[in-house]
Amino acid sequence: MILVLACFIAGCVAASNYSVTDFGAKGDGVTDDTKAFLDTWNATCQSSVSSILLIPAGKTFLLNPIVFQGPCQFYVRVQVDGDIIRPSQLWGGKIYHWLLFSHIDNLSIVGSGKIDGQGAAWWSCKTNHVSVSSSPLSSLLFCRRALVADLRLINSPQMHLVVGFSSTIRITGVTITAPGDSPNTDGIHIQQSHHVNVSDSTIGTGDDCISIGTGSFHVNVSWVTCGPGHGISVGSLGMNNSRAEVSDIQVGHCNISSTMNGVRIKTWQARYGYAKTIIFENINFTAVKNPIIIDQHYCAAGVCAEKKPSAVQVTDVRFIEVRGTSSSQVAINLNCSQNVACTGITIQNVEIQPAQQGGQASSYCFNAHGTVTGVAMPAVPCLMP
Ligand SMILES: *[C@@H]1O[C@H](CO)[C@@H](O)[C@H](O)[C@H]1NC(C)=O
Ligand SMILES: *[C@@H]1O[C@H](CO)[C@@H](O)[C@H](O)[C@H]1NC(C)=O
Ligand SMILES: *[C@@H]1O[C@H](CO)[C@@H](O)[C@H](O)[C@H]1NC(C)=O
Ligand SMILES: *[C@@H]1O[C@H](CO)[C@@H](O)[C@H](O)[C@H]1NC(C)=O
Ligand SMILES: *[C@@H]1O[C@H](CO)[C@@H](O)[C@H](O)[C@H]1NC(C)=O
Ligand SMILES: *[C@@H]1O[C@H](CO)[C@@H](O)[C@H](O)[C@H]1NC(C)=O
Ligand SMILES: *[C@@H]1O[C@H](CO)[C@@H](O)[C@H](O)[C@H]1NC(C)=O
Ligand SMILES: *[C@@H]1O[C@H](CO)[C@@H](O)[C@H](O)[C@H]1NC(C)=O
Ligand SMILES: *[C@@H]1O[C@H](CO)[C@@H](O)[C@H](O)[C@H]1NC(C)=O
Repeated sequence: MILVLACFIAGCVAASNYSVTDFGAKGDGVTDDTKAFLDTWNATCQSSVSSILLIPAGKTFLLNPIVFQGPCQFYVRVQVDGDIIRPSQLWGGKIYHWLLFSHIDNLSIVGSGKIDGQGAAWWSCKTNHVSVSSSPLSSLLFCRRALVADLRLINSPQMHLVVGFSSTIRITGVTITAPGDSPNTDGIHIQQSHHVNVSDSTIGTGDDCISIGTGSFHVNVSWVTCGPGHGISVGSLGMNNSRAEVSDIQVGHCNISSTMNGVRIKTWQARYGYAKTIIFENINFTAVKNPIIIDQHYCAAGVCAEKKPSAVQVTDVRFIEVRGTSSSQVAINLNCSQNVACTGITIQNVEIQPAQQGGQASSYCFNAHGTVTGVAMPAVPCLMP
């Protein structure tokens, strides 16, 4: 599939081009170009040869919420050379997505255009607890065989890129930026999807760099730089009492700096399901508050039910060749459920120093089982066999 897409991108497949400006888009940053984009999409998607929807460089296109609906006839490439912005005013009603790509097979979205969510008004509502309906910047739902490359996503009101109910997705060379104090602005969120590969990307936002939710299998994250934000997270799992199922997650060759968490597994209390075979390998931390953290005690305030005899079962989680500095004392925190123990935790060549001179780094475990091999700094004597 990657070969075919690579060939497609390199231009060795006959292609028709459909430029949004030929369908009436102005690209002056003021005129609403939504209809022109929909018309262009229609032509592109209905083409029986592989086709390109071209967003030309040097222009800024203002779009309201838009659905790029599939299925399409054949390969479709969205070439984002120009910029796209969202209107800055808030809107009401239940709008769950801004740029939504839905039910498309063999899609690529490439180019170095900037996609700007103008999220500031939403953030101040959220910060002031004013309830507004907001939505991710861009979403791929029910897509198969898609490539997202080189885009710059900035200032989403909410998550920047969501992958859901999709498979065989490759995300590479993406840059995502929002202020470190902007609420819920996750970089990439993956849920109910399998065979997702994220690489060579730089993400600094106010929330998770990458979050991997339930129904995710075979997710590979590599060569990603994170910070500021909340680090790379599996979870929260079990929200709204849904059964959690996550396995075969590999996170490697990442630099994480000035974040709340480094690599985290977070589950709601008293829920069901599993999170297993999760490998964090070759990770560098710089001044991360909770470098390694498993937290199985998450609950919405006031509705904690710790005593129920269930939990999301966490098994086979490996931290291998993980180095760097912690800005709080507890550098390794394996805070598992009292109901269902974590098992098969591996700490192998982990060296985390205090970020501050004269500071201390320590480990904490609750109901965590596994093994330490090679170096462990701080030591993890609390990990039970
Ligand atoms: C279509 O667009 C691509 C990318 O901008 C360009 O390389 C190619 O020459 C165009 N093809 C045609 C037929 O216009
Ligand atoms: C797209 O094309 C279909 C079929 O030709 C048509 O029914 C629909 O109205 C078009 N949508 C837009 C937004 O032009
Ligand atoms: C997508 O690609 C796959 C495999 O390359 C092919 O079997 C399938 O027919 C393609 N679908 C479309 C809509 O192009
Ligand atoms: C995932 O990305 C990495 C890094 O670019 C690459 O080595 C690997 O082959 C990719 N895997 C797939 C299945 O595309
Ligand atoms: C995941 O990424 C790593 C690092 O680039 C690579 O070695 C490995 O083969 C990848 N695994 C898959 C399944 O793509
Ligand atoms: C991570 O940081 C190190 C040291 O600052 C640097 O040499 C390396 O290139 C960075 N890696 C990535 C993937 O950005
Ligand atoms: C979870 O429950 C909350 C509160 O009842 C609701 O607002 C939210 O939409 C639900 N989320 C999902 C994913 O169902
Ligand atoms: C982590 O830091 C070490 C030492 O600075 C460097 O050699 C290595 O390349 C870094 N890892 C990544 C993923 O950048
Ligand atoms: C572990 O979780 C419990 C329950 O939420 C909490 O009270 C405690 O502070 C946590 N310990 C650490 C070291 O995070």
